[in-house]
Amino acid sequence: MAILKTEHLTYSYSTGTPFEVTAIEDINIEIEAGELVAVIGHTGSGKSTLIQHFNGLLKPQSGKVYVDGQDIWESKKTLRASRFAVGLCFQYPEYQLFEETVYRDIAFGPKT
Ligand SMILES: Nc1ncnc2c1ncn2[C@@H]1O[C@H](COP(=O)(O)OP(=O)(O)OP(=O)(O)O)[C@@H](O)[C@H]1O
Ligand SMILES: [Mg+2]
Repeated sequence: MAILKTEHLTYSYSTGTPFEVTAIEDINIEIEAGELVAVIGHTGSGKSTLIQHFNGLLKPQSGKVYVDGQDIWESKKTLRASRFAVGLCFQYPEYQLFEETVYRDIAFGPKT
């Protein structure tokens, strides 16, 4: 069974406005345990948009995301579980770190 799977995943920004951009369209992938996969593409091709769906930072406008066989948007419980199972490391970590130490940065979430 795939540990990560997407089905017909589609996402647009600024939907319904003149600035609408379809960032990803009908993406179907399956990643098995132990596989090492790189997503490669030119700037603006939708890599970050795709990856932000893997633990529910973005909600699919259509299509599904499965982590360990579970539709992550099925319930609050499955969404939460996906966030424990999928760790994301962002492109510009310096924009994310705001505390003075790694300890304080990591402790920020649980404290608030
Ligand atoms: N928050 C946003 N609001 C509006 N449009 C966006 C937003 N984020 C991304 N886009 C647009 O969606 C498309 C895909 O962008 P995305 O950031 O997913 O690409 P990327 O492959 O990660 O690019 P890069 O290699 O520069 O990181 C681009 O056309 C981009 O301009
Ligand atoms: Mg990106």
